[in-house]
Amino acid sequence: MARHLITSAIPYINGIKHLGNLVGSQLPADLYARYLRARGHEVLFLCATDEHGTPAELAAAKAGKPVADYCAEMHAVQAELARGFRLSFDHFGRSSSRQNHALTQHFAGKLDAAGLIEEVQEQQVYSNADKRFLPDRYIEGTCPNCGYDKARGDQCENCTKQLDPTDLIAPRSAISGSNDLEVRQTKHLYLRQSVLKDTLDAWIDSKTDWPVLTTSIAKKWLHDGDGLKDRGITRDLDWGIPVRRGKEEWPGMEGKVFYVWFDAPIEYIACASEWSEAQGLDASAWERWWRTDKGADDVRYTQFMGKDNVPFHTLSFPATILGSAEPWKLVDHLKSFNYLTYDGGQFSTSQGRGIFMDQALEILPADYWRWWLLSHAPESSDAEFTWENFQVSVNKDLADVLGNFVSRITKFCRSKFGERVPDGGAFGPDEMDLLHAIQERLGRYEALMQAIEVRKSAQELRAIWASGNEYLQTVAPWSTFKTDPEKAAMQTRLGLNLAHFFGVISSPFVPDASEVILESFGTPAAGWPESANTAVDQLKAGHAFTVPDVLFAKITDEQREKWQSDFSGT
Ligand code: MF3
Ligand code: ZN
Repeated sequence: MARHLITSAIPYINGIKHLGNLVGSQLPADLYARYLRARGHEVLFLCATDEHGTPAELAAAKAGKPVADYCAEMHAVQAELARGFRLSFDHFGRSSSRQNHALTQHFAGKLDAAGLIEEVQEQQVYSNADKRFLPDRYIEGTCPNCGYDKARGDQCENCTKQLDPTDLIAPRSAISGSNDLEVRQTKHLYLRQSVLKDTLDAWIDSKTDWPVLTTSIAKKWLHDGDGLKDRGITRDLDWGIPVRRGKEEWPGMEGKVFYVWFDAPIEYIACASEWSEAQGLDASAWERWWRTDKGADDVRYTQFMGKDNVPFHTLSFPATILGSAEPWKLVDHLKSFNYLTYDGGQFSTSQGRGIFMDQALEILPADYWRWWLLSHAPESSDAEFTWENFQVSVNKDLADVLGNFVSRITKFCRSKFGERVPDGGAFGPDEMDLLHAIQERLGRYEALMQAIEVRKSAQELRAIWASGNEYLQTVAPWSTFKTDPEKAAMQTRLGLNLAHFFGVISSPFVPDASEVILESFGTPAAGWPESANTAVDQLKAGHAFTVPDVLFAKITDEQREKWQSDFSGT
């Protein structure tokens, strides 16, 4: 039993996320959290909304609402969708929380005391048409690194290079499209990350078990040219965390706020404090997860995110933590994902192309999406969602294999032996072979889940379900019953125990189906099995059950075609 802190990259507040966002961080983080809890570990799983910055201000303006109200509403919407997808956060916090204000200002004070903050007179882009400074994301132009023509002022989403707005070629306002931009003088704080380059480099070298996707991105930004340049951490905006040095005013910085990418990761810590307060616990409850001087030394901390987030989590946030010289927990394992594409193109929030979390739940229950997304997670490369593939996966894996197995064995038992587990005596050679094969697969499944190999875990789980189906197909208790009812009873007892076992081990992927299966056996709290042998000895002869409702309905060709056209985004 160990203690695991798990965070998912915190989604931006403006708007509902699409399935590509979901599979890139929140969903795999939930898979891992559920697995570790099922194995008896103590888990603190945190996520929040990322509420500051221009996008939130602009979205609120568009909705005609004060930005604080807009954020409160959207937080509730995102929290509800998270529940809909069964994301099992211990707390779903807000980067605009009182706790994050205090902690962000605290870090700035510590970094300043350590000599890591520099005040810089800066030239900043001002839009005459929009009558405001245009921070980072709201300037678009051509990337100087790769030539992509829709690069944003903070980062090029095509090549992941972190940018400054003034780096862009042919810049324009993303608000109005105007190129009537001028450069004005303003003062900002810079975090002197470059001072920490060697420290960060050595720290990343010590992470030998990180995925290559993670370390290669981090190394690239440490060593390529100006990769780890000092970074502006303040902005000329109204909405955000006011710039302070701890609790004190910061002369010359009145009216400015911290940059959203400075305060957002600090919310991982603040969120733990929000959680403890919501639980009615005192500060020691969250500090034992985050402070290495208060017990967090034996916590294993795993972060989940899309690849575009990697530089901020491997360099900027660790620089904040290391630079503070306080004993905060650093990430132990960082799991990053490539992108999910949609039917031959990109998911696009602005063009409404693809499937968004609310729409997905309107057409099918969470388990269907969870299974497809996780079994096709964009791990080693980008992955593509197509409706054909989704239909095949749901119909084959969920309906024909898992659903059919559970339904077939429970119905057969009911018809021949009633709704109680029959006895039938000792297992024979077929059963021993099956248990041997399942034992091997179970060990592999556990190792893959532990290693967060999401797709491979799904494959192994599906193979376990399939071996149950093959067994039933081969021994055919419905035929056995005609000549040897005693033996058929034994095969049925094993089949029912397998259904129960599938319910337990599938819970991280398809929690609702798992709950239905376990409820039908009256064992909602069944624990993870020690081995295949003990797993099939859980339900003893005489154990009552009910036949569950159909677990998964098949997707018809008509449904598929309709959804395909409904979601084409034109
Ligand atoms: N909101 C960012 C995104 O969706 C992620 C922020 S993660 C954090 O890309 F570390 F900053 F919190
Ligand atoms: Zn680029």
